Order: sequence, then structure tokens, then C-alpha cells
Amino acid sequence: MAFPEKFITELVERNDIVDVVSGYVRLGKKSGSNMFGLCPFHSEKTPSFSVSPDKQIYHCFGCGKGGGVINFIMEIEGLTFPEAVEFLARRVNMPMPEQENDAESRKRARMLALNKDAARFFYEQLSTPAGQPARDYMAKRRIGPATAKNFGLGFAPDSWESLRNAMKAKGYNDFEMADAGLVRRGKTSGFYDTFRNRLMFPVIDVRGNVIGFSGRILGDGEPKYMNSPETLVFNKSRNLFALNLAKKSKSGYIILSEGNIDVVSLHQAGFDSAVASLGTSLTAEQARLLSRYTKEVIIAYDNDGAGLKASQRAIGILEQLDVKVRVLRMSGAKDPDEFIKLKGPDAFRNLLEASENQVDYRLKAVTDKYDLTQDDQKVAFLREATDFVARLPGSLERQVYAMRVATMAGVAADAVTGEVERRRKRMIRSAQRTDEREQTRPGIQMQPPEKALRYDDPGSAAAEEGLIRLLYNEPALVKRPNLPPAEDFSAPALGRIYGVIRQKLERGDTVNTATLGAALSGEEMNLLVRVIQKPEVLNRSDQALQDYIRKIQEHKDARQPGTDLRELQKKLKETKGYRG
Ligand code: UTP
Ligand code: MN
Repeated sequence: MAFPEKFITELVERNDIVDVVSGYVRLGKKSGSNMFGLCPFHSEKTPSFSVSPDKQIYHCFGCGKGGGVINFIMEIEGLTFPEAVEFLARRVNMPMPEQENDAESRKRARMLALNKDAARFFYEQLSTPAGQPARDYMAKRRIGPATAKNFGLGFAPDSWESLRNAMKAKGYNDFEMADAGLVRRGKTSGFYDTFRNRLMFPVIDVRGNVIGFSGRILGDGEPKYMNSPETLVFNKSRNLFALNLAKKSKSGYIILSEGNIDVVSLHQAGFDSAVASLGTSLTAEQARLLSRYTKEVIIAYDNDGAGLKASQRAIGILEQLDVKVRVLRMSGAKDPDEFIKLKGPDAFRNLLEASENQVDYRLKAVTDKYDLTQDDQKVAFLREATDFVARLPGSLERQVYAMRVATMAGVAADAVTGEVERRRKRMIRSAQRTDEREQTRPGIQMQPPEKALRYDDPGSAAAEEGLIRLLYNEPALVKRPNLPPAEDFSAPALGRIYGVIRQKLERGDTVNTATLGAALSGEEMNLLVRVIQKPEVLNRSDQALQDYIRKIQEHKDARQPGTDLRELQKKLKETKGYRG
């Protein structure tokens, strides 16, 4: 980590976690010393997200996310560790420390400068003689010069090293270009341009940095698009194409489409709030990013099976974020680009205005499955539609849609309304029962929710957790001579956490969620917070420490092939249980 520890400590002190979290989550209902609210990271109806003002940490019992104030900002704003630090520093008007010698941030800045120079190079190619094929293709797709300028579109010439040579002349070397994904290393020798003979779409983030490129072939052929790889500055799942432009729109909504060409075409036709996810289906991070700029998203995906499926998924993700979602239904064209070309911008504006809210859209999907002139199908329809309506959060909303369902099926409104409310009560009761069960079943609680982190040896893992918890709470214990090496841990993630904590303590560093944040992954941080949240008897810590150490050793021996397992098992049964 490049930040001085004193700076991070002060930053965390000045950004009280309750204050910060309250900006995103309504916290209420104190239970013990913790405050509870609805988790912003997963969808839930009863609060399982807790914030501890004493420990300055948060933890969700539902999805397992947890950490300190910096982790919270990383998670909710989709930022990296240094970005989150900067975000919090700005929040309390703390000046950032000098970062002259921060190798990583220098590398990032250099890569961004290279990308910007490359984008400029591609743009300039559009007006050279070599750019003729690109100009022809743009004319064919009816992309005008003003639009090209607005998006910074460009052309990667049909040559092996025109970009490479141009960037060399500007002082960048092959390795820097390769790291940015702009050149590749050949099988036998040398580096060559990644993008050749393609129409170039720079991907620009909300701060105006060129973070990557998407290059379309001029005409037919495979692959249709080539995209920058993930780099130090480019993370596909965290960015959206054209959000830099759309965020300035006054329209009050954002149009989410699939293709770069759709976005360009939409902006050109006056719909300046169109964005596209970068060749993937919408991710939770992209949805969160969108929700920072708008409260309403209109989905305008392709008019095919894949588009329909992607719409359903996007709705599910967006509705968790309190974003109003509408879905555009196009007919007679395969995508927004084609629609605008065939029918004009006014027709598209009509579509936008007629676009259905997501409840209508989903209810229609249910209706389409049944033939309502057949009695047996009518019954099946009523069952599915009532179930759907019962899940709607607002009681007024349930009323309205229950009545609509009744009309469609030709039955009395009261019958449907009554059934909807009965179902809803049943649903709530059973959800409560599941919650209670999950909170009282220790075997399940013991396992981390992330599949990748599941414990193979829960008995040993409990002791490993205990050891971590003790060290975290009582740093002086790191001086004990018989602490096991991290390799003796059965759970790799716990081993890593333990190793990092020990190393820091041995160096005399402070250990808290802020100082550990840079060294641990997000998943490891969640796990650590879960571990240190569990109760521990601290007044007999030396005794507990020795118990844990012994347990870890015994389990390790038991895992060795060749030992008499039954004998060991018996011994394990005899040893006294520990808490945790
Ligand atoms: P489309 O094939 O719909 O492309 O893919 P498009 O941009 O709408 O182009 P036209 O109108 O057919 O010419 C949608 C998006 O999926 C990603 C790109 O981001 C594209 O814009 N994609 C597609 C890729 O990343 N790689 C591919 O090979 C194809
Ligand atoms: Mn398309």
C-alpha cells in the first residue's frame, strides 16, 4: 500500500462508518451495540445488514459482505482501494498525501496517457487517405462526422505497426503498449498492432479517461469486435460504453442497449442518454454505476431471444437498486440502430413513451404463456399470475395488478385480490421461518457463503478462525513462540489472512480493516470480518490460544495420510470443545 499508515488511520477516524453508511442505507433499530438496515448489496425484505459503531465495521448476515469504511466505499461505489481512499478523503476535505513514488499510480497515469494518444492517433487516421475504407463504412452505416467527433471514433489502419510506430515516436515502449493491450508479442519476434483495419470506439470512463477500445471490423467477418483486454485501467464489468456522454443528458433516464453501433446511432438521432454494456450482459457493478446517474433505465436490447433473456436479467439486477425500469418493445427491426434507420427518430420517441414498466412487461410474459380461452389454461394462468402479483412490494400495486389479472381471466376481482393477499402472508411467514432456521443452525453458519471459500475441515477451520480472532483482538499474542505456520491451516483463505496479520504484527504495524484492506482480496476481507465478529472469551485468551494451536496441529496430523484415523478421531472427541 502506498498510503502512509498515519494518513489511513486519520482518514478512517474522520469518516465514521455510521455516517458514511447512512448515506446509502437507512440504519435503524439498534440491537445490542449494532445498528441494522436493509443490505445494499443484495435484495432482502428484513434487515440483516449490521454496522458496529464500536468496531467501525459492517457485516451482512445475509450475503456475507463485510469490512471497514474503506471496503464499504469500494463495494458500493465500485472503486479500487486507492480510489475509495481518495473518495473518503474528499468527503472530509482531507488533502491526499504526496504520491510521487507510488509505482502503481504512476503506471496507471502513464497507461491513460498512452490510451489518449492512441485514441488521438486513430481519430486522425479518419481524415487521411488511408482512412478511406473507414469513411466508406461509416457512410454506409450513416455515422456522420459530428458523431464521430463526439464519440472520438477512429480508424486503426490496415497495417502491422502503424500505431506501434506512432506511439514509439511519442516515447512509449513495447512493454507499455502490450500492457495496455494495444500491441501483442508475435510468435517469433517483435510486437505488432492489436487493432488492424477496424473502426475504433474508445471506451471513456465517467472522469473522461480513455480506458480501452472496442474495434469493429469494416463489414462482415469474424470476430466482429475486438476489445481491449482487462488492464490496470480497464475493467469491462465496471464500465459502460458512452456513460461519459449519457451522464450529461437532461432526459432523466438512461437507455440501455446492447451494441456500440446502437448507442452511436441513438445519440446521433438525439437520444443522448444511450449506453451499452461492453459486450457482456449487465453486471451488478454496471447497474450500481448507472444508479448513480439516473433513477430510471429504459432497456432497449435486441429484438431476439438473447435480447429478451438479457432484458429479464437486467431487470432483476436493476430493481434491487431502486431504479425504475421500463422495457422498450420494438417490432419490425432487430435493434435500435435498424429501427431508427427504417422508421426515423420520431417513431423511436413514440416507442420510448409507450415503453412498459417492468411489471407490465413481466405480467405480459406470463399472459403470453397461456391460451385464456381454455378453462384449464386459465386456471394455470391464475395460479402463476397471482403468485407473481403477490410478490410485488407495494400493496396498491398489488391491488391494481390483481384487478388486471382478474379482468384478463374473466373472474371476480375480489377473488384474485383475496388470493393475492393470502399468498403474500404465506410467503412472508415462510421467509421468516427460513431466516430463523438459518440463524440458529450452527453447521451452516460456520461455512462462508462464498463457494470458493468453503471449509474442507470445519473442525480445524473453527480453530483457525479462533486464532485469527485472538490475534486481531490481542496483537501482543503474536509474541507467543509456538504459533503455527500459515501452511498448517486447512483453509487456504484463513491461512492467507493469518499470514498477513502475523506479518504486519511482527513488523509492528497496526492491524485493522483499513490497513488490511490493501493486502486482502474482497472475499478475504468479508471472511475476516465475519470471523472477528464472532464472540470470543478474551479474559482467558492465553488458554484459548493454546487450545486453538493444539486443535490445528491435531487436525493437521489427522489429514496426513498414513496415520491411524480412528485413533485420532477418538482423541479429537475427547478433547474439550472450544467456543467460536
Ligand atoms: P452486436 O453484434 O449486436 O454488434 O453486438 P453491434 O454493435 O450492434 O453492431 P452491428 O449493428 O451488428 O453492426 C453487441 C455488442 O457486443 C459486443 C460489442 O460490444 C457489441 O457492440 N461484441 C459483439 C463483442 O464484444 N464481440 C463480438 O465479436 C461481437
Ligand atoms: Mn446489435
